[in-house]
Amino acid sequence: MIFSKAQHKMRLVSFVALLATATLVAGDGLDWWKTALIYQIYPRSFKDSDGDGIGDLNGIKSKLPYLKDLGVDAIWMSPIFLSPMYDFGYDITDYRQIAPEYGTMADFEALLAEAKKIGVRVIQDYVPNHTSNESEWFVKSTKRDPQYENYYVWADGVRGADGLIGPPSNWISIFRNSAWEYSPTRGQYYLHQFLIGQPDLNYREPKVQKEMKDVVRFWLDKGVSGFRVDAINVMYEVDPKNFGGKYPDEPLSGGTDPQDYEYLKHPYTKDLDETYNVVYDWRDILDEYIEKQGEYKFMVTEAYTDLDLMMKYYGNGQRNGSIPFNFVFLGDIKNQSNAREIKLVIDKWMTFMPSGKVANWVNGNHDQSRLASRLGTDRVDIMNMLALLLPGVTCTYQGEEIAMTDGYVSWQDTKDPQACNTNDPINYWKKSRDPNRTPFHWDDSKNAGFSTGNSTWLPVADNYKTLNVAAQMNSKKSHYQFYKDVAALKKTKAVREGDLDTRTFSQSILVLTRLAPGTPGVVGIVNLSDKDETVDLSSLKLLPPQLRVAASGVDCKLETGTTVNKNSIQVSAHCAIALQSVSNCC
Ligand code: GLC
Ligand code: MG
Repeated sequence: MIFSKAQHKMRLVSFVALLATATLVAGDGLDWWKTALIYQIYPRSFKDSDGDGIGDLNGIKSKLPYLKDLGVDAIWMSPIFLSPMYDFGYDITDYRQIAPEYGTMADFEALLAEAKKIGVRVIQDYVPNHTSNESEWFVKSTKRDPQYENYYVWADGVRGADGLIGPPSNWISIFRNSAWEYSPTRGQYYLHQFLIGQPDLNYREPKVQKEMKDVVRFWLDKGVSGFRVDAINVMYEVDPKNFGGKYPDEPLSGGTDPQDYEYLKHPYTKDLDETYNVVYDWRDILDEYIEKQGEYKFMVTEAYTDLDLMMKYYGNGQRNGSIPFNFVFLGDIKNQSNAREIKLVIDKWMTFMPSGKVANWVNGNHDQSRLASRLGTDRVDIMNMLALLLPGVTCTYQGEEIAMTDGYVSWQDTKDPQACNTNDPINYWKKSRDPNRTPFHWDDSKNAGFSTGNSTWLPVADNYKTLNVAAQMNSKKSHYQFYKDVAALKKTKAVREGDLDTRTFSQSILVLTRLAPGTPGVVGIVNLSDKDETVDLSSLKLLPPQLRVAASGVDCKLETGTTVNKNSIQVSAHCAIALQSVSNCC
């Protein structure tokens, strides 16, 4: 039979549609990401399998059953690639090789295969802004190898008022001091928005664009389910062609520390318009693989920026992009925020997000102080529940499910280059990300069950004897148990598809409701105060009258399984509680 082009296309479309329905039934192949629970692993600190004090791929593989059991749909691992580890893997020597301290490519493939087998997807960290200065590309670029000559952002020095040649502009690195470093080999300066060891790639060079697309394909061919894209909004700097061949100085912000990134505003090095099309191009590549591998390929981008700019990553109406990480919980919720303030923060994202797009909620990552340390341990259940019951994707950083706290790391033990660059043994901790990267607490044995080694790359936090997974699994009530119960609710139809209603009943009571027709509704109630309160939900007309407690936070007196009437629910001080209606909604 010979098909016309149009017929062929039709058949292909219906085949893909068929595939969509088939895989939807057999594990949501095309829709899995829309309500995914994504668990961030910081490989160095998750589980060490060989006793060298550094977490590794085999360690992660051994803990997949724990993650599956917790309700995790996908893991995102911070970079596992060959690197001198100045920025602990965010400085990549070769995007296609595994760092030996984390394992081998065979170990990665075994991890991926095992994850697939038990139904956990793997998302790779993708660091497009910069490589390591040990990358072959960079070494060749310093030598002006014609293929690599323009791979990085190179510029001549500029004569300053003092008559001496200095950096091309006043730009400051996010990690302190000049963003330019001189290369004696090349006789020019190169740009590094982060460390000296992290030279910025030049996205105005088409060869770089192609090279980095090939990296995306390499990992998709291996079978990963998507990417977390690092530091996307510093990918471009202005084109000197538009500034008389020079890089223009950035204006002062009014700050006081001339070596600090915040000393300047960043109109020429951040959030440039050119960025979005590159993201949309990557999306196109991912889309090719949806057909090839019968699975949606996920992309989430990291940009700390204004909400309106963030929304551009979603797409521009014509082209699709990524999900931009939603950092409103990190920046806008404080330990004193009341119910109304928290509701506004939730509403903010939902209001800005273009219609039809998928939301996401982030309570922590390897760059931020931990939830328990930032907001207080009594708010961990609350924030975890909100992130799990709100529509869309939940991103949980390792350890937040057990309410780990920031560990103490002395100046001597400090490893984070952002802290080391302060050169300040007193105030370094203000910049340090080490406390939120200390090893994971599995149990109360040596090194918290993280490693059998004599020492660990960062010290284990001293509260691990009581604060660990094993203890929380064995106790009747714990952050872990609560997290797991709420994660199970995330899989219900109401939370996957239901309408969202958020309401405050007082300064301290916030109620989140998810209702879909023909299925039990789900309600999350939060009490932010020090006093027990009685909550009357009868104003939620569509919510059926009888509710059963499905998840009860560590501070709640109402136990799981108890049935209550919606017009009078006892919510203890600091309690986060999730209920499911006994009858179907609406
Ligand atoms: C991102 C990473 C951070 C890293 C930086 C440079 O912000 O999350 O850990 O230091 O990019 O790659
Ligand atoms: Mg190891």
